Amino acid sequence: MPETTRSSLKSERLARMLDEVRAGLSARQKELPPKYFYDARGSRLFEEITRLPEYYLTRAERALLRARIPNWIRELRPRALVELGAGSAAKTRIILDAMRAAGTAAVYVPIDVSAAFLRETANRLRHEYPEIETRPLVADMTDGLRLPAGLPGPTLYALLGSTIGNFDDPAAVRLLERIQAAMYPTDSFLLGVDLKKEVARIEAAYNDARGVTAEFNRNILRVLNRELGADFDLGAFEHRAFYEGEYDHIEMHLVSLCDQQVTIPGAGVFRFRQGETIRTEISGKYDPCRVAKLFEAAGLTMREWAPDAEGLLALVLGVAKGGGGGA
Ligand code: SAH
Ligand code: AVI
Repeated sequence: MPETTRSSLKSERLARMLDEVRAGLSARQKELPPKYFYDARGSRLFEEITRLPEYYLTRAERALLRARIPNWIRELRPRALVELGAGSAAKTRIILDAMRAAGTAAVYVPIDVSAAFLRETANRLRHEYPEIETRPLVADMTDGLRLPAGLPGPTLYALLGSTIGNFDDPAAVRLLERIQAAMYPTDSFLLGVDLKKEVARIEAAYNDARGVTAEFNRNILRVLNRELGADFDLGAFEHRAFYEGEYDHIEMHLVSLCDQQVTIPGAGVFRFRQGETIRTEISGKYDPCRVAKLFEAAGLTMREWAPDAEGLLALVLGVAKGGGGGA
């Protein structure tokens, strides 16, 4: 990519970040978009979270993928896999292995905002799966899917790890609508959702004993300091995560430990009272009705609801309304 294009993309990205941060920190409940957790360090911290004893989501989803994917892939025979928020694609290998075993694997399109981490993931996959064309896309999944032309069908779209939970329901519907709009009748959609369960179990997953989630949470301030020249004092904010029963989601906040002000060049000066918080993430917890409503609103049909035996997490297989998912 020419240097001038690269630097204009960078300034567009920073201008957008500045706008979103200014708007979020000007709201009555201060907020920051969770996508800004994920620079290379944030992505590595998330990987560390997935290995924590308290964070059951990744282990539960991996076990479910192992149990369900081989049959589903034999049935659907996808030639392309498009994954939104791919991260390290660690669990994705279960899908790619099944596609390889079925003799259908041709193209993998991992999409993620975390550019450097995505590049590393893609390089590793090219090495491990030389027969699959890996075509990474650095993009914000909320911007719409600008997929490479000429993807071989059928295509399987995947949104794993309960990343959908980081969007409130109206935003989740908009995201699902975009996926649905990209789908042909023979394509299918695989979604991983964390399930409603005992609150203590959920809260423990977001308040781990080693403090990795706290470090992940504070990383968002580190990103704003580096990218926007903000002067957040990381030691002056502490991690808080709690379940909000009314909305069936976890909320993660950063709590200001004192009265303070933060300057973000180009955005302004933001005042924090002691105890005031910035909401950095929500993480929705689901049951079949909530997912069915999201699917219905987005024009998707739920073909399979596959929870694990403990009721921790579910995989959902969907097709566009009127589509058959190749079955
Ligand atoms: N799918 C992986 C990673 C989940 S973490 C798993 O199940 O373990 C969420 C991933 O989504 C991160 O890699 C993050 O960088 C990416 N992400 C977060 N918000 C995003 C957005 N708006 N657009 C694209 N990627 C995003
Ligand atoms: C990526 N996402 C689904 C994770 C979640 O559980 O909401 C991010 C995370 N936040 C704290 N721990 C993990």
